Amino acid sequence: MSTLITNVGELVTNEPDEASGSAGAFASRPGAALVIEDGTVAWTGPAARAPAADEIVDARGRAVLPGFVDSHAHLVFAGERGAEFAARMAGQPYAAGGIASTVAATRRATEPELRAGLRRLTAEMLSQGTTTFECKSGYGLTVPDEARSLRLAAEVTPEVTYLGAHIVPPEFDGDSAAYVDLVCGAMLDACAPAARWVDVFCERGAFGADEAAAVLAAGRARGLQPRIHANQLGHGPGVAVAVAAGAASADHCTYLSDADVAALAGSDTVATLLPGVEFATRQPYPDARRLLAAGATVALATDCNPGSCFTSSMSLCVALAVREMRLTTEEAVWAATAGGARALRRPDVGHLAAGARADLVLLDAPSHAYLAYRPGVPLIAAVWRNGKLAAGTPA
Ligand code: NIG
Ligand code: FE
Repeated sequence: MSTLITNVGELVTNEPDEASGSAGAFASRPGAALVIEDGTVAWTGPAARAPAADEIVDARGRAVLPGFVDSHAHLVFAGERGAEFAARMAGQPYAAGGIASTVAATRRATEPELRAGLRRLTAEMLSQGTTTFECKSGYGLTVPDEARSLRLAAEVTPEVTYLGAHIVPPEFDGDSAAYVDLVCGAMLDACAPAARWVDVFCERGAFGADEAAAVLAAGRARGLQPRIHANQLGHGPGVAVAVAAGAASADHCTYLSDADVAALAGSDTVATLLPGVEFATRQPYPDARRLLAAGATVALATDCNPGSCFTSSMSLCVALAVREMRLTTEEAVWAATAGGARALRRPDVGHLAAGARADLVLLDAPSHAYLAYRPGVPLIAAVWRNGKLAAGTPA
């Protein structure tokens, strides 16, 4: 079964580098067509030269993009924190203290309740064009509760992240060393089989540099690859720890020193920016232009979670990155697709060249720029995941 999508007004391809096969720089072409076969992109080229196919979709001049790659999300939780958000908008600062209330609600929840919330959010993401996403634990913080969160996450994505080191839970108050021992010991034993990644919240009030490095090293020894929450609420050692550990990504990067920027630029560690967090916490936006000027790789992700940012919309992140962080529309769309793919070390997604996974989005708009030009408008007409129409309608 082959599907031809033709009369594409703008096809964003992010053509891969010959050598790596993973997404290259932003690239798009007008008047294009694309063929999907067996879950992959089989052909792209000018619409005038499109081959025959079993099924034809007429894009009628609309744009086709790679599906969004949301490389940072906390989706397994119970409860909500709307009142905390409202209080913050009325002047309270964000201090991540609300995490404990979500931990309490998550521990109380049944597995079917957690699964229902998770499924609701993943359906929401898919309908908004997200075809690959990462999902963390981090609201259980006991051995069985973290293992349960990761089992549930593994039902919906291969990009599962063990975040036992999110905060020191109340029962370990004042003894973070004992909690880190648990995170690196029995909890890791229970969690490693379900996870691909290990993460730690390296921040004042959460975990320090030595603790973060120990958590990442322990995870790596069990086959997990490191990524990190770094430099979100203030300057600190998170980015340095990430680069030293060879982390795939340092996430947040809101407060960076010149040395942090240089370290990121000189490494394979992606700087994943989460502008929905700055929007929802009224913090200053990260300096994306400074990172790009230095040569760092920048990704955009939602950080969807009940506290610091409860959006699942990658389109919103693109619009914020363009308006508030001065990325060009091309840079922002690249960061939300190919950048996320790099942050998850996934060469098969984030681009639409022949051989890529057929994860793509048909916009109800003629170009990618409309994601920022028409913020807040539902522009995702249809979504194909793994070659199959998964949301919306292309008609
Ligand atoms: O990425 N920084 C730590 N964790 C989340 C916030 C989680 C919460 O507030 O519940 C974040 O912002
Ligand atoms: Fe986060």
